[in-house]
Amino acid sequence: AVAGLPATPPMGWNSWNTFGCNITEQIVRAQADALVSSGLRDAGYRYVIVDDCWSAENRAADGSLQADPRRFPSGMAELGRYLHERGLRFGLYSGASDKTCAQFLGNRPGATGSRGHEAQDARTFADWQVDYLKYDWCSSESDHDDQVRAFTVMRDAIRGTDRPIVYSINPNSGVADAVPGEQYDWGGVATMTRATNDIAPVWSTNAGPSGAQGIVDIVDALAPLASRVGPSTFNDPDMLVVGVDGKPGLTVAQQRTQMSMWAMMAAPLIAGNDLTRMSTRTLGLLRNRAIIAIDQDQRVSAGAPVGDDDEIWTRAVGEKGLVVSLTNRSDHPRTMSVSLTSLGLVGDATVTAIDAWSGRRYQASGGELSAEVGVDDTVVLQIV
Ligand code: DGJ
Repeated sequence: AVAGLPATPPMGWNSWNTFGCNITEQIVRAQADALVSSGLRDAGYRYVIVDDCWSAENRAADGSLQADPRRFPSGMAELGRYLHERGLRFGLYSGASDKTCAQFLGNRPGATGSRGHEAQDARTFADWQVDYLKYDWCSSESDHDDQVRAFTVMRDAIRGTDRPIVYSINPNSGVADAVPGEQYDWGGVATMTRATNDIAPVWSTNAGPSGAQGIVDIVDALAPLASRVGPSTFNDPDMLVVGVDGKPGLTVAQQRTQMSMWAMMAAPLIAGNDLTRMSTRTLGLLRNRAIIAIDQDQRVSAGAPVGDDDEIWTRAVGEKGLVVSLTNRSDHPRTMSVSLTSLGLVGDATVTAIDAWSGRRYQASGGELSAEVGVDDTVVLQIV
């Protein structure tokens, strides 16, 4: 693990998917309060991340970054204090360009980004007690060497402060898709790295390479990158879309699959729904203890598909524990099976497994573990 940084995947809430550029300090405080009152903070969701559009159009006279005075009149240091007083951590957004991605949203000039001001901005973030920096790529150009340089410059700027700051990068905005397995390995640069376009609250989409992606699109894209994950180094499949409104919207089974697969991937769990008006069902999905325990397992080893079957993944947990996920991507409920030998176990071993969601116990028989799985649902079997 990197000193001062979490060894296991960060958990928290991010403003973007629900509030976009309409973010204000009142909203952030209300979301923070909801994290505490809902029990999500105590379940591990600690980072409150203010995404794009918090910064003013221009820098201060001394060149320093400043908050938009209409949206954050009390200033960012004050917001950081508010969060820390409640046992939360403070996340802020910037980008490796002059203007942030908001410049692409139409009739907006874009907020100020950090290009050319990295050291000064890192000092500002440290002064404001920032614990997490989401650093975006919003240039219309996508020169690879320039990207590596830009993200590394900010890494070094953060390291130059005396504050441990989670460094969450998105080298993917506006960049043509590479074959996932061939994507550049940012492991030495960032704490967590996006490898896909923005998630949408959909199961899967054929919107094309530059469009938003659904849950299973992202699972498939990250599968070949599992070996890059370790303590303080994570692949970032983007935010949770649990409890997020959308058209046609996600079924409960699909949302259970997102939580399950994000845990299998040892991914950061960053909620994006409006926490002040979530249903008990949404809260139950986000707060599931067994799923969070898998996600946060101290071994920090990401799961991967068994062979080339994209519906069955395994993840090593603890000293010698094993978790198997069965996702039913077909259009009818069905019994799914996995052979013990394909899991590296002895074929005639006596194996008991418990589903993290239902608590149901399963017994291997005939050398196989089998479970009934609903449409787009996932059963997460913890072998005991
Ligand atoms: C692109 C990122 O992928 C999103 O998560 C969000 O940060 C927006 N940029 C903000 O402009």
